Parts: sequence; structure tokens; C-alpha cells
Amino acid sequence: MSETACLTIDGKVHKYPVITGTEGEKGIDIRSLRSDSGYITYDDGYANTGSCMSRITFIDGETGILRHRGYAIEELAAGSDFIEVAYLIIYGELPNRDQIASFRNLILGNAAIHQSMFHSFAGFPASSHPMAILSAMLNSLGCYYPHMATNNREQDLEHLDDAATILISKVRALAAMAYRMKLGRPFIYPRGQLSYCSNLLHMMFSEPYADYTASSRVDRALNLVLLLHADHEQNCSTSTVRMVASGGANLFASVSAGVCALWGPAHGGANMAVIEMLESIHKEGDDGTRFVEAAKSGDRSKRLMGFGHRVYKHYDPRAQILKEASKKVFASMRLQDPVLDIALKLEEIASHDEYFITRKLYPNVDFYSGIIMRSIGIPIDFFTVLFAIGRMPGWIANWKEIATGKSSIHRPRQIYTGSTLRKFVPLEERL
Ligand code: SDX
Repeated sequence: MSETACLTIDGKVHKYPVITGTEGEKGIDIRSLRSDSGYITYDDGYANTGSCMSRITFIDGETGILRHRGYAIEELAAGSDFIEVAYLIIYGELPNRDQIASFRNLILGNAAIHQSMFHSFAGFPASSHPMAILSAMLNSLGCYYPHMATNNREQDLEHLDDAATILISKVRALAAMAYRMKLGRPFIYPRGQLSYCSNLLHMMFSEPYADYTASSRVDRALNLVLLLHADHEQNCSTSTVRMVASGGANLFASVSAGVCALWGPAHGGANMAVIEMLESIHKEGDDGTRFVEAAKSGDRSKRLMGFGHRVYKHYDPRAQILKEASKKVFASMRLQDPVLDIALKLEEIASHDEYFITRKLYPNVDFYSGIIMRSIGIPIDFFTVLFAIGRMPGWIANWKEIATGKSSIHRPRQIYTGSTLRKFVPLEERL
């Protein structure tokens, strides 16, 4: 039996259908509210607003559930790898042997960048933030595949499979080239026979006279970090990709915008902020107790970075997996970096502190991801770049939902609170 929500406005009852998702989530369909009543809703930050219906990822923030196309993140982390999860997220089903072999070969063998793009990197000062470089170069990459970036929906969709493998593959080379340019080191060409993560690390850390070879342990750890970042429902950057796609923009332009949204410290930039926080705690000889007290002040600049989440009011399942993985990586590499101990201590203190308990603030994906990336040698200003590489499949899948869906351009309304009508005053009459 279909449900209805009633809204009484100026004495008149307006009825709106209730939409129920496959996991029982409820939404009130208010698409006719303004034409019915002249009213709009107000929901700063969209915490209570569903922008779309999606079949890709399900999150239950109250119980800490994350599933991609129905598969639990814990099972995917234990039994799959980043490229297979990318296939699942984009195409909706786990691939069979032929499908994953073809998808994997297209990605592993497609890392090289057009020689002309090398010159673009020379246009950035070495001080450039790598997210600025990555966003610009992803848009530039689309210029080398004009038939895939036409802004003609049908044509861009026709080439989506190719554009997807090109982006998932080449985003690594663009990231590595940004790293090399900032160091003033020569670009390192990809090696087709290397795994997805080992090739990225090779392009970052090898030298013309000495190859860097990632150990299987490091390859597995980085693969896990990317897998856990592959998609996450309507987060800030993915919603940005959908917003840009809704105007008809091509996939390259849309993911370029996603990179910019991810850059912010409240979103993808948090993994960098976590390490900076842990290092400063260590430098001050604090065991975390003083920092946690300061984090309770409500001052946004003193927040416990990597803690809290707009959706998860429970432990972020990705953080749980990364916490265990970081312990294993540290043990197997016999690492003595104090940041993991400080992170574990912070979590221990916060988990018994009323302030965090009452606000349901738990570690999120960023709390432990930076610790693993740091342990495998990723420079801190590239943590969010790695997040972007991991999130690429999710951005592609969400762009595809917009491109194949019927939704019109995303154009929210507003409540105007500025000046009402007033007469123009010529300059000579102004004080
Ligand atoms: C990601 O959306 C996604 O899915 C994102 C992501 C993904 O995969 O795409 O999961 C990745 O972005 C994870 C989040 C990374 N950001 C951080 O770790 C930054 C630190 N966290 C916070 O800034 C905050 O928790 C947010 C931004 C993540 C969520 O903010 P909300 O939901 O808007 O919560 P809020 O700012 O309204 O805070 C509610 C209360 C406030 O206290 P009161 O005003 O009620 O007294 O909780 C407090 C806040 O002061 N609070 C914190 C805190 N986070 C919230 N206090 C101390 N430390 C924190 N980290």
C-alpha cells in the first residue's frame, strides 16, 4: 500500500507520495511542492535532502553499513581488488573471467600519456598543489579524446566504456607526472606488465638509473586503500560530478570538477589534515589527551580530523578495515612510526568521552588511510590525489547514471535574504 505524507500550508493540506528504496529508506516526493503551494523546502547542506535515486552504493550510517551494488565492503575488501570493484561499481555486476580479463588489460595497458601532454606540466610552478594539477590535466586529457568529450550525450555515452578505462588508467600517470614535476625529476614511463598500483608507484618513485619495485605487501595495501575509496553515495565530490553532468558536460570535465570538490579539508583533504594533526601532537609531546580536550571546544580549526561524518553516526566500516590493515602493514614492515600509536590512543580516548559519544563521532575513512599511505611512502600532499584515483570509478558510475537517466539539470532554489528593491544612486550623489 503506497504511503502519503501530508503537509498543511495556510490551512490547506497537501499530500505527497512517499518513495521507499530497496533497503527501506523513505523519501517524500515533493517535486510538485512549489507549483502546489509556492513554498520550497530549506535544507542547508542537504542533510535531509535526496538529490537523486541511485543503484550504485548503499550506506546505513546508523549501523555502519556500506555496500556497492549489494555487496558488503568487508567482503569486497577481503575477496576482490580495486579494478574488479571498479567494474562492479560502473557496470552493476561482478565480472566473469572474460569480462574482468578484458577490463583489466584495457586499464593496465593504457597508462601512457600523449607526449604533447608532457609540455602542459611545465606550465605549473613546482609549488602547485597536486590537486590543482590533477583537475586541470584531467580536463586536458579530454582534449586528446574529443570524440569522447563532445557534450553530446548520445555520443559521449557511446564512448563511455573507452573513456572509463582511459580515466581509470591514465589518472595514475597524471598523478605521478605531477609528483615528478614538483620534484624536478624526469617523467618515468609506465610498464605494461606491472599491476595497477605497482605501476603508479613505479611512475612516482623509479629513476632513469634505478627502478622502484613495490613489494607485494605495499601493492596490496595501496590496492586496499583505493578499493575502499571507490564510491561513497552522494558525498560532496560525487554530487559535484552529478551536478556538472546534469548540465550535459562530458565525463572528463565532470571528474575534473569532482577533483576540485574533493580537495577541501572537510572532505578528501582530511586525510592530509589527519597526519598533520598526528605529527603536531607527537611534536608537542602530547599523548592526545590535550588535543582531544581542545577538539571539544567547538572551534572548527581544532577539530579531531578524521573523526565524524555527515552520514555515519557509527564506526565507518572503511576505517575499521584500514585500522586493521595499518596494524598489519606496520608489523610486517617492522615500522616504528609513532603516528599509528597516537591515532590508536586518540580513538581510545574519544571512544570513552561523552562529547564524542553524544555526537556520535567515530573515526572515518580518513583517520587511518593517511597512516597507510605514509607508511608506503606516499608524500602527504598526494594523499588526496590517491583518494581521487580511488574515487574515479564512483564518479564515472554516477556520471553514467545522470547521462542515462531522465533527470533534468540540477538547479536548486534559495531563500533570498538580501536587500529588497531600492533606487540606483549615481556616483556623484553617493557619500
Ligand atoms: C569524507 O560524505 C562522504 O561520504 C565523505 C567521505 C567519502 O568517502 O566521500 O566519507 C569522505 O569526507 C570523510 C569526512 C572527512 N572529514 C573530516 O574528517 C573532517 C573532520 N570532520 C568534521 O569536520 C565533520 O565531522 C564532518 C564535516 C565530516 C561532518 O560534519 P557535519 O555532519 O556537518 O557535522 P557538524 O559540523 O554539524 O558537527 C556536529 C557536531 C558539532 O558540535 P555541536 O555544534 O553540536 O556542539 O559535532 C561536532 C561539531 O562541533 N564535530 C566535531 C567533529 N566533527 C563534528 N567535533 C570535533 N571534531 C570533529 N571532527
